[in-house]
Amino acid sequence: MTEGGAGPERETTRGETAADDGTADPPAGVTVRRVERADLLDVLRIEKTCFTEPWPYTAFESFLDEPGFLVAEREGDVVGYVVSDVMPNHGRDIGHIKDLAVAPDARGMGVGRLLLQRGLVSLSLSGAAVVKLEVRVGNEPALSLYRDVGFEPARRVPAYYADGEDALLMVLDVDAWRN
Ligand SMILES: CC(C)(COP(=O)(O)OP(=O)(O)OC[C@H]1O[C@@H](n2cnc3c(N)ncnc32)[C@H](O)[C@@H]1OP(=O)(O)O)[C@@H](O)C(=O)NCCC(=O)NCCS
Repeated sequence: MTEGGAGPERETTRGETAADDGTADPPAGVTVRRVERADLLDVLRIEKTCFTEPWPYTAFESFLDEPGFLVAEREGDVVGYVVSDVMPNHGRDIGHIKDLAVAPDARGMGVGRLLLQRGLVSLSLSGAAVVKLEVRVGNEPALSLYRDVGFEPARRVPAYYADGEDALLMVLDVDAWRN
Protein backbone atom coordinates (compact mmCIF):
# COMPACT_ATOMS: atom_id res chain seq x y z
CA MET A 1 0.00 0.00 0.00
CA THR A 2 1.15 3.54 -0.57
CA GLU A 3 -0.67 5.03 2.42
CA GLY A 4 0.62 4.22 5.91
CA GLY A 5 3.70 2.08 6.22
CA ALA A 6 6.88 3.58 4.92
CA GLY A 7 5.04 6.35 3.09
CA PRO A 8 5.51 7.50 -0.49
CA GLU A 9 8.86 7.21 -2.16
CA ARG A 10 10.20 10.64 -3.08
CA GLU A 11 11.69 10.03 -6.48
CA THR A 12 13.06 13.31 -7.59
CA THR A 13 15.07 16.24 -6.61
CA ARG A 14 16.90 18.23 -9.21
CA GLY A 15 20.41 16.91 -9.85
CA GLU A 16 20.11 13.77 -7.70
CA THR A 17 17.68 12.24 -10.11
CA ALA A 18 19.61 13.02 -13.25
CA ALA A 19 22.58 11.24 -11.75
CA ASP A 20 20.48 8.33 -10.46
CA ASP A 21 18.51 7.22 -13.48
CA GLY A 22 19.85 9.08 -16.48
CA THR A 23 16.63 10.97 -17.19
CA ALA A 24 16.49 14.72 -17.68
CA ASP A 25 16.40 17.22 -14.85
CA PRO A 26 12.82 17.97 -13.79
CA PRO A 27 11.34 21.38 -14.57
CA ALA A 28 12.01 23.85 -11.73
CA GLY A 29 9.81 23.24 -8.70
CA VAL A 30 8.34 19.99 -10.01
CA THR A 31 8.73 16.71 -8.15
CA VAL A 32 7.51 13.24 -9.06
CA ARG A 33 6.49 10.69 -6.45
CA ARG A 34 4.33 7.62 -5.93
CA VAL A 35 0.62 8.37 -5.79
CA GLU A 36 -1.23 8.37 -2.48
CA ARG A 37 -4.94 7.82 -1.93
CA ALA A 38 -5.25 11.50 -0.96
CA ASP A 39 -4.17 12.48 -4.51
CA LEU A 40 -6.96 10.66 -6.29
CA LEU A 41 -9.51 13.50 -6.36
CA ASP A 42 -6.89 15.82 -7.89
CA VAL A 43 -5.99 13.11 -10.41
CA LEU A 44 -9.66 12.67 -11.28
CA ARG A 45 -10.14 16.43 -11.71
CA ILE A 46 -7.24 16.58 -14.18
CA GLU A 47 -8.49 13.45 -15.96
CA LYS A 48 -11.89 15.08 -16.54
CA THR A 49 -10.32 18.21 -18.04
CA CYS A 50 -8.14 16.12 -20.40
CA PHE A 51 -10.28 13.30 -21.77
CA THR A 52 -13.70 12.96 -23.37
CA GLU A 53 -13.93 9.44 -21.91
CA PRO A 54 -12.36 9.93 -18.48
CA TRP A 55 -11.53 7.00 -16.22
CA PRO A 56 -13.81 6.75 -13.16
CA TYR A 57 -12.41 7.12 -9.62
CA THR A 58 -12.52 3.36 -9.09
CA ALA A 59 -10.20 2.76 -12.04
CA PHE A 60 -7.51 4.96 -10.50
CA GLU A 61 -8.15 3.39 -7.11
CA SER A 62 -7.44 -0.06 -8.52
CA PHE A 63 -3.90 1.05 -9.49
CA LEU A 64 -3.00 2.65 -6.13
CA ASP A 65 -0.50 -0.08 -5.30
CA GLU A 66 1.26 0.02 -8.67
CA PRO A 67 4.83 1.39 -8.51
CA GLY A 68 4.16 2.86 -11.95
CA PHE A 69 1.35 5.15 -10.75
CA LEU A 70 3.18 8.44 -10.21
CA VAL A 71 2.10 12.04 -9.74
CA ALA A 72 3.90 15.29 -10.54
CA GLU A 73 3.61 17.99 -7.91
CA ARG A 74 4.30 21.72 -8.20
CA GLU A 75 4.08 23.95 -5.13
CA GLY A 76 2.05 21.31 -3.33
CA ASP A 77 -0.45 20.83 -6.17
CA VAL A 78 -0.80 17.70 -8.26
CA VAL A 79 -0.32 18.85 -11.87
CA GLY A 80 -0.07 15.53 -13.69
CA TYR A 81 0.15 11.77 -13.43
CA VAL A 82 1.11 8.59 -15.20
CA VAL A 83 -0.48 5.20 -14.64
CA SER A 84 1.42 2.11 -15.76
CA ASP A 85 1.84 -1.52 -14.85
CA VAL A 86 3.73 -4.66 -15.88
CA MET A 87 2.28 -7.93 -17.11
CA PRO A 88 4.28 -11.19 -17.14
CA ASN A 89 4.97 -12.43 -20.65
CA HIS A 90 7.08 -15.59 -20.78
CA GLY A 91 10.26 -13.96 -19.54
CA ARG A 92 9.80 -10.78 -21.58
CA ASP A 93 7.48 -8.77 -19.36
CA ILE A 94 5.41 -6.05 -20.97
CA GLY A 95 5.00 -2.63 -19.39
CA HIS A 96 1.88 -0.69 -20.29
CA ILE A 97 1.49 3.07 -20.06
CA LYS A 98 -2.24 3.22 -19.39
CA ASP A 99 -2.83 6.88 -18.73
CA LEU A 100 -0.77 10.07 -18.85
CA ALA A 101 -2.03 13.60 -18.40
CA VAL A 102 -0.86 17.05 -17.38
CA ALA A 103 -3.18 19.83 -16.18
CA PRO A 104 -3.66 22.39 -18.99
CA ASP A 105 -2.00 25.20 -17.04
CA ALA A 106 1.12 23.08 -16.43
CA ARG A 107 1.70 21.93 -20.01
CA GLY A 108 4.61 22.81 -22.25
CA MET A 109 7.19 22.93 -19.48
CA GLY A 110 8.44 19.35 -19.47
CA VAL A 111 6.08 17.75 -16.94
CA GLY A 112 4.66 15.20 -19.39
CA ARG A 113 8.13 14.17 -20.54
CA LEU A 114 9.31 13.86 -16.92
CA LEU A 115 6.32 11.71 -15.94
CA LEU A 116 6.80 9.47 -18.95
CA GLN A 117 10.50 9.05 -18.23
CA ARG A 118 9.91 8.29 -14.56
CA GLY A 119 7.17 5.86 -15.51
CA LEU A 120 9.61 4.08 -17.81
CA VAL A 121 12.22 3.91 -15.04
CA SER A 122 9.64 2.39 -12.73
CA LEU A 123 8.53 -0.15 -15.35
CA SER A 124 12.15 -1.04 -16.03
CA LEU A 125 12.81 -1.59 -12.32
CA SER A 126 9.70 -3.78 -12.22
CA GLY A 127 11.19 -5.96 -14.95
CA ALA A 128 9.55 -4.71 -18.15
CA ALA A 129 11.56 -5.55 -21.26
CA VAL A 130 9.23 -3.75 -23.60
CA VAL A 131 6.66 -1.01 -22.99
CA LYS A 132 3.52 -0.42 -25.02
CA LEU A 133 0.84 2.26 -25.12
CA GLU A 134 -2.14 3.28 -27.20
CA VAL A 135 -2.64 6.84 -28.41
CA ARG A 136 -5.32 8.49 -30.53
CA VAL A 137 -4.05 8.91 -34.08
CA GLY A 138 -5.07 12.57 -33.91
CA ASN A 139 -3.36 13.39 -30.62
CA GLU A 140 -0.36 15.27 -31.98
CA PRO A 141 1.09 16.53 -28.67
CA ALA A 142 1.12 13.01 -27.21
CA LEU A 143 2.37 11.40 -30.45
CA SER A 144 5.19 13.91 -30.60
CA LEU A 145 6.15 13.25 -26.97
CA TYR A 146 6.11 9.47 -27.40
CA ARG A 147 8.13 9.59 -30.63
CA ASP A 148 10.61 11.94 -29.02
CA VAL A 149 11.14 9.63 -26.02
CA GLY A 150 11.70 6.65 -28.33
CA PHE A 151 8.37 4.90 -28.86
CA GLU A 152 7.81 3.51 -32.34
CA PRO A 153 4.51 2.80 -34.06
CA ALA A 154 3.67 -0.93 -34.12
CA ARG A 155 0.18 -1.00 -35.62
CA ARG A 156 -3.02 0.95 -36.02
CA VAL A 157 -6.03 -0.33 -34.04
CA PRO A 158 -9.29 0.60 -35.83
CA ALA A 159 -12.05 2.22 -33.72
CA TYR A 160 -10.16 1.58 -30.48
CA TYR A 161 -11.94 4.49 -28.78
CA ALA A 162 -15.65 4.70 -28.04
CA ASP A 163 -16.08 7.65 -30.42
CA GLY A 164 -14.64 5.57 -33.26
CA GLU A 165 -11.17 7.11 -33.48
CA ASP A 166 -8.32 4.73 -34.26
CA ALA A 167 -5.44 4.16 -31.86
CA LEU A 168 -1.81 3.84 -32.73
CA LEU A 169 -0.15 1.08 -30.71
CA MET A 170 3.38 2.23 -29.93
CA VAL A 171 6.21 0.22 -28.38
CA LEU A 172 9.58 0.92 -26.81
CA ASP A 173 12.43 -1.49 -26.15
CA VAL A 174 13.55 -0.80 -22.58
CA ASP A 175 17.19 -1.86 -23.03
CA ALA A 176 17.56 0.34 -26.10
CA TRP A 177 15.94 3.24 -24.24
CA ARG A 178 18.27 2.92 -21.26
CA ASN A 179 21.45 2.76 -23.34
C1 LIG B 1 0.44 14.93 -23.97
C2 LIG B 1 0.74 15.69 -22.68
C3 LIG B 1 0.78 14.72 -21.52
C4 LIG B 1 2.08 16.40 -22.83
O1 LIG B 1 2.39 17.01 -21.57
P1 LIG B 1 3.31 18.32 -21.47
O2 LIG B 1 3.70 18.46 -20.05
O3 LIG B 1 2.64 19.47 -22.11
O4 LIG B 1 4.55 17.88 -22.37
P2 LIG B 1 6.04 18.43 -22.26
O5 LIG B 1 6.05 19.87 -21.91
O6 LIG B 1 6.81 17.51 -21.38
O7 LIG B 1 6.54 18.27 -23.75
C5 LIG B 1 7.28 17.15 -24.15
C6 LIG B 1 7.16 16.96 -25.66
O8 LIG B 1 5.81 16.68 -26.01
C7 LIG B 1 5.52 17.24 -27.30
N1 LIG B 1 4.47 18.24 -27.14
C8 LIG B 1 3.97 18.74 -25.99
N2 LIG B 1 2.98 19.62 -26.26
C9 LIG B 1 2.87 19.67 -27.62
C10 LIG B 1 2.00 20.37 -28.50
N3 LIG B 1 1.04 21.21 -28.05
N4 LIG B 1 2.14 20.16 -29.82
C11 LIG B 1 3.09 19.31 -30.31
N5 LIG B 1 3.94 18.61 -29.50
C12 LIG B 1 3.82 18.80 -28.18
C13 LIG B 1 6.82 17.85 -27.78
O9 LIG B 1 7.53 16.84 -28.46
C14 LIG B 1 7.51 18.17 -26.46
O10 LIG B 1 8.89 18.25 -26.61
P3 LIG B 1 9.58 19.72 -26.78
O11 LIG B 1 9.19 20.50 -25.57
O12 LIG B 1 11.04 19.39 -26.83
O13 LIG B 1 9.04 20.29 -28.03
C15 LIG B 1 -0.34 16.79 -22.44
O14 LIG B 1 -0.50 17.54 -23.63
C16 LIG B 1 -1.69 16.27 -22.01
O15 LIG B 1 -1.93 16.02 -20.82
N6 LIG B 1 -2.62 16.08 -22.97
C17 LIG B 1 -3.98 15.64 -22.66
C18 LIG B 1 -3.98 14.19 -22.20
C19 LIG B 1 -3.38 13.28 -23.24
O16 LIG B 1 -3.60 13.41 -24.43
N7 LIG B 1 -2.61 12.30 -22.74
C20 LIG B 1 -1.98 11.29 -23.56
C21 LIG B 1 -2.93 10.16 -23.76
S1 LIG B 1 -2.24 8.90 -24.82
